[in-house]
Amino acid sequence: MQPELEASLIEAARRATAARPLDGDEATVPVERYTDPARFARERAALFRSTPNLVAHSSEVPEPGAFVTRDLVGTPTIVARGDDGRARALVNVCRHRGATVERRPAGRCKRFVCPYHAWSYATDGALVHVRHPDGFPRLDPAGSGLVELPCFEAGGLVWAVPDGRPTAGLDGPTTRLLTEIEGLVGPGLAVFAAEERVWRANWKLIVDGSLESYHFKIAHRRTIGPAFADTASIHAFVGEHVRLVLPRTSMADPPPGARLLQHANVLYVMAPNVSLLVQDGHLVLVVMTPEAVDRTRIRLVTVGRAPGPDGYSAGARRFLEANHAITVAALNEDFELAEQIQRGIATGANAAFRFGRFEAALSAWHARLEARLDAGP
Ligand code: FES
Ligand SMILES: [Fe+2]
Repeated sequence: MQPELEASLIEAARRATAARPLDGDEATVPVERYTDPARFARERAALFRSTPNLVAHSSEVPEPGAFVTRDLVGTPTIVARGDDGRARALVNVCRHRGATVERRPAGRCKRFVCPYHAWSYATDGALVHVRHPDGFPRLDPAGSGLVELPCFEAGGLVWAVPDGRPTAGLDGPTTRLLTEIEGLVGPGLAVFAAEERVWRANWKLIVDGSLESYHFKIAHRRTIGPAFADTASIHAFVGEHVRLVLPRTSMADPPPGARLLQHANVLYVMAPNVSLLVQDGHLVLVVMTPEAVDRTRIRLVTVGRAPGPDGYSAGARRFLEANHAITVAALNEDFELAEQIQRGIATGANAAFRFGRFEAALSAWHARLEARLDAGP
């Protein structure tokens, strides 16, 4: 992060901690936006399937032959590093008769072998072996590799476009923010722990819960609430993404030369499918897969300094274990609330939700979302 930007964020966060800031106007959002299946289908196509989604952390595919399998917004995908060192996203569907080629969640291999009739693919997706090839006199092996999706590696993360449309790469704002995040957390990171669960809530309720700190002292009173300033978050849009500074109580009086992460967490809500919660010494990825209008799969990934050749030191392990546990506990509090809200919508008690003047990031995020949906994929 640029020193001037860091200094201005510290000053803005200090002021917000001292005097709960009001911003923008009170706003409402109709609840059908969280329940309408036709709208959900439009959101999936326009916001998720046609743009680069985060699909893995680079450290999950560290060397040639390493792979993970993921559901990429409805497209089963293998993320594999080829012998040339490139990470690729390959549709996990056999080109013979469509079986799922790789069923393990992660591993290392030289070939992906289909469990149905043993057609085999190299780690770059090329079809390299057909059992009894005399049965397929018209097969063109060169054109029958696993389908490759546009895939980019940036900021220690692997991104892919689920619907396969050709894309030039990550846009300028995304690249800028990834550079900013790398500057904050430093290089040499690796996944420490990950867990995944399906929550019965619309994906936007998951985002809503992350865009304000009005709830910290109440909903998170047993976890992170005591450490953070009340209703003091400050936000800025960078392209479609939001940078949210969440001051800790210590931000009320930061000593000279203080660094941002010593007195605040920084949350990057990055379109379309990931939030990066940057903390001092590690970060947490919150990766969303919208499965249905009222169902969202969430993968929580704690990323810290990579272990040395002998593994993690006892101190590093304790630090990452403790931080993983508290962050997951606090986020689960948010997701449980999202499930309650989704159930509450069904009662008809609310025709709309109300965003206050200290929830301005929510109002602005929803307004931009409407504009992007109107513009289409
Ligand atoms: S479906 Fe994969 S080899 Fe037949
Ligand atoms: Fe929360």
